[in-house]
Amino acid sequence: MRPDPDCRLCGLWESRTNIVLPSGNLDSRVALVGEAPGTTEDGQGMPFIGRSGKLLMRILAEAGVSRDDVLITNTVKCRPPGNRDPKPSEMSACRAFLECELSSCEVIIGLGRSACRDLLGYSVNISEIANRDMRISVGGREVTFIPTFHPAACTYGKAALDCLRITAERIARELRR
Ligand code: URA
Repeated sequence: MRPDPDCRLCGLWESRTNIVLPSGNLDSRVALVGEAPGTTEDGQGMPFIGRSGKLLMRILAEAGVSRDDVLITNTVKCRPPGNRDPKPSEMSACRAFLECELSSCEVIIGLGRSACRDLLGYSVNISEIANRDMRISVGGREVTFIPTFHPAACTYGKAALDCLRITAERIARELRR
């Protein structure tokens, strides 16, 4: 189940250029879930290809993980205007698509506060829970959930970068299992 090319389930259709669908290995057991497409992603219709995406791919590559090893997606498939956080109503309008995308994943990485709030169902302070394994239910299935920083947070401090590097090592281990 994918959004209709003319999807209008929430108001984000009004300002989007492209619906940004998942990329990478769509059958991977590991998924990375970001917040929402940014300007570059909206323009080209692919997640995590702008500045944050390039940094994320570099961190993954250092751990031996490539874009094609994991499923990469976002809580919402359309860019919120001005790159604001997606609203809970927008995330719930897109939820069925996310659940379908994650249907073969066993380990889900939540990148940043919005993704973690959407998948956990409550607000969290990422620095308190980063890289701590949790169990969540997605589409009626229990999976492992690992919260971590969004790559954009790395511009504000080395702690976020260190955490993301640990997450990348964990992803590499999961892919070897
Ligand atoms: N930030 C996100 O959360 N997702 C993207 O696809 C790009 C930037």
